[in-house]
Amino acid sequence: MAATQQLSHVLPLGSRVNDLGHLEIGGCDAVELAREFGTPAFVVAEDDIRTRARAFVAALSARHDDFDVLFASKAFPCTAVYRLLAAEGLVCDVASGGELHLALRGGFDPARIYLHGNAKSLAELEQAIDAGVGHVVLDSFMDVDRLERVAAQRGVTQRVLIRVTPGVAGRTHAKVSTGQADSKFGFGLDDAKVAIERLRGSDSLELAGLHMHIGSQLLSLEAYRPAVEALAALGDFSTYNLGGGLGVAYTAAQQPPTIEAYVEEKVRALHDLIGRDKRLLIEPGRSLVANSTVTLYTVETIKRNVSTWVAVDGGMSDNLRPMLYGSVYEAFLADRPEAAGSGERCHVAGKHCESGDLIVRDVPLADPQPGDVLVTPATGAYGHAMANNYNGIPRPPVIFCRDGDARVVVRRETYDDLAARDC
Ligand code: LLP
Repeated sequence: MAATQQLSHVLPLGSRVNDLGHLEIGGCDAVELAREFGTPAFVVAEDDIRTRARAFVAALSARHDDFDVLFASKAFPCTAVYRLLAAEGLVCDVASGGELHLALRGGFDPARIYLHGNAKSLAELEQAIDAGVGHVVLDSFMDVDRLERVAAQRGVTQRVLIRVTPGVAGRTHAKVSTGQADSKFGFGLDDAKVAIERLRGSDSLELAGLHMHIGSQLLSLEAYRPAVEALAALGDFSTYNLGGGLGVAYTAAQQPPTIEAYVEEKVRALHDLIGRDKRLLIEPGRSLVANSTVTLYTVETIKRNVSTWVAVDGGMSDNLRPMLYGSVYEAFLADRPEAAGSGERCHVAGKHCESGDLIVRDVPLADPQPGDVLVTPATGAYGHAMANNYNGIPRPPVIFCRDGDARVVVRRETYDDLAARDC
């Protein structure tokens, strides 16, 4: 038990040090997993995702009657994750035809899917209507026109929400802040009024309510209330989708708001500023899945010059976030997790042909050696989702672990996969 307590809270719930002194995820020895499935690999503690999904549902049901929790599936768009969260009773947010395809494959009832996107194609709108998607979240006047035409052609009435940019930016990295007026997303407040009028006159689109998403990886909650206040000024609707955005801890020093505090803030803003008799939707992505997962790498080489460079067998092809957002991760060795935080200061570098391909800067590692299994926690959100094949690196598998059993839910790409689209 003492060992468990020393492990960082960024690791999946239930992680511990086993009798061999190795990191254990979902009851599985991380060193064994690396040996059996190879590296790099995304290792997911299934029960971590379940627990967080249930925490969102419990926090809402304690405070509000009519609600749904939507899985913002861009965070981890893999069939097995869709399946797990559909089974937990969540509703689903998809941001493209591809995510819609996966959500349906993962078993989501189309009526419980919301289609987003600032540049939906005609084909995606047709796909959504033909699939019977419950709601389309409209993002521009052209989106309204196009969807109305498709719905009229099909002879259906499509329920919609209007995405509003409330003019309140969430405090976060500029690349993932979305609530400000000068945004590619949604309708500004004046345009939203016009769109609402436009939809009230529509025969084939039925306006259920408003949507906002002011930003992602928010480590403070203060922006939600003024944003909800801006929505309140747009009229009275039955449904309010207040988006996702709850930040997570990537390093032990980060202490994001709890799921309870986040839900409390949104519910309180809704009750105080709009009303209690509303359907409330929230749309978490990162906070459902980020900490469920660790990436396992193998150390390939170690080089000492001005710094010590510990190079592993993955990098920016499986984790773009350090390069895109300067995101900071923890790293330690799977067979000596209790030594995390001690040892020589190293840069953990990827294997890609760019100096910027650094996974973690300046992290102490306990006598790293080639062949060691290196762990970076909190890679469940936007890791698999943004993986790529730069330098011809096959994308990693996704391995679900539960009660000591491990199963591959997405296999590793092969070299043949890299040429699979050749004509
Ligand atoms: N709803 C909408 C409309 C969104 O655009 C997003 C995220 C979410 C919900 C979920 O937000 P979350 O709960 O995950 O913060 N690739 C970036 C994150 C981009 C977020 C995009 N939208 C990253 O790796 O940090």
